[in-house]
Amino acid sequence: MGARHVASFVCQNCGATYGRWQGKCDACGEWNTITAESTDLRGPGRMPRKGRLFALQPLGGDTRQAPRLSSGLDEFDRVIGGGFVRGSALLLGGDPGIGKSTLLIEAAAALARAGHRAIYISGEEAVAQVRLRAERLNLSKAPVELAAETSVEDILATLSEGATPRLVVIDSIQTMWTDTVDSAPGTVTQVRGASQALIRFAKRSGATVILVGHVTKDGQIAGPRVVEHMVDAVLSFEGEGWHQFRILRAVKNRFGPTDEIGVFEMTGAGLRQVTNPSELFLSDRDLGVPGTAVFAGIEGTRPLLVEIQALVAPSVLGTPRRAVVGWDQNRLSMILAVLEAHCGVRLGTHDVYLNVAGGLRIQDPACDLAAAAALVSSLANAPLPPDAVYFGEVSLSGGVRPVPQGAARLKEAAKLGFARAVVPEAGREQAGDAPLALNAVGALTSLVADIAARGTPTTRLGQNRLARQDG
Ligand code: TYD
Ligand code: MG
Repeated sequence: MGARHVASFVCQNCGATYGRWQGKCDACGEWNTITAESTDLRGPGRMPRKGRLFALQPLGGDTRQAPRLSSGLDEFDRVIGGGFVRGSALLLGGDPGIGKSTLLIEAAAALARAGHRAIYISGEEAVAQVRLRAERLNLSKAPVELAAETSVEDILATLSEGATPRLVVIDSIQTMWTDTVDSAPGTVTQVRGASQALIRFAKRSGATVILVGHVTKDGQIAGPRVVEHMVDAVLSFEGEGWHQFRILRAVKNRFGPTDEIGVFEMTGAGLRQVTNPSELFLSDRDLGVPGTAVFAGIEGTRPLLVEIQALVAPSVLGTPRRAVVGWDQNRLSMILAVLEAHCGVRLGTHDVYLNVAGGLRIQDPACDLAAAAALVSSLANAPLPPDAVYFGEVSLSGGVRPVPQGAARLKEAAKLGFARAVVPEAGREQAGDAPLALNAVGALTSLVADIAARGTPTTRLGQNRLARQDG
């Protein structure tokens, strides 16, 4: 019995299949994501093919240790764990216009200049458009091989000719289509089929294949969440459109860590690598303004100083606003609750805004103390000392808990000219011998009292704006 074509209903978000249409996907909970796709079903009566015999291998033996190939961009290498691994497949996601194509053409050019075969296949732009960009980036001379194609079969046939390429960029996976699947380009089935074929090529040939994936409004790589499971690494390129900073992160990585970030700056002549991000994120600080605190953070293995900005203002709304950019909304709620419950800081009638400067998104829980300091500073109208950094995790009981890598945080702060640090009491010893004055705090209340005491006379602790709850 031959192949049978049957319409099935596939969720375009997660790839779950159903026998009939329904409004909501039971698997991922999304609405209106299920569309009909015709699938090539093998009939149940089909005889199984007689399997080919293959040799089983011992666990030990010649590994021909996968040498990593530098992308030519240190910030990129850092994120992927030291360079491209032979035969690996990567997915690079990011908002449209964030700079994915720019990043990858730069990496391809660097590789090509180093004498490796690098191929860039664009499914979105014409060759002339890609050339224009290369010209703008001053890369026209790099021997990158370029094509504007969307048929996976044609691409694979072409790639199999000549020397095996070391890098193949597919920009983007949503524009690719394969003959083996009937569905329209861009559907989950197509994206999955095309990815499978391209990833198989990577494994077979030893080339590194990078698939570019578009991201939907809610930050998911559109459609092919299925692809995330198929590739070796998922990278995301992020940043706020109006900021020039771009952060490259590994969301998943079979060959390296997932907590390292690469920092770039989008300039008129392409992406510039930022080797000392702290300097960049602190470059235009407003000194002596209430509501700003410098957080001594760690991203991966790299210390990173960044300004946390808070604005606390009386609300005219029945339900005051809580808005946060660059940090976890739930952590903000938790800090506000701890300030209310344990420090007598009443914020129930205030709007609260919290922002991480420079468009960075912080994941390090050590940011709690800096966020609390910025919030209280804004409420009390008390500028924090401009030469101080903050780090520490706040517990629900109002305690300030130690965080890892205190010494590295302090060293970075000292390097950038900071003179004091507000740190968790319990982790004081691990601070090492950094040349900073340490102010160790055991509980959030003492930090609040310190800041309020610096406030302008009308906003001192005990007055209307910052009322201490009497026990
Ligand atoms: P692009 O790499 O095309 O983004 P993506 O592939 O993620 O959609 O980058 C597009 C944006 O970057 C565009 O708004 C212009 C800007 N840009 C620069 O600012 N400088 C440059 O040198 C280049 C090439 C692009
Ligand atoms: Mg692009």
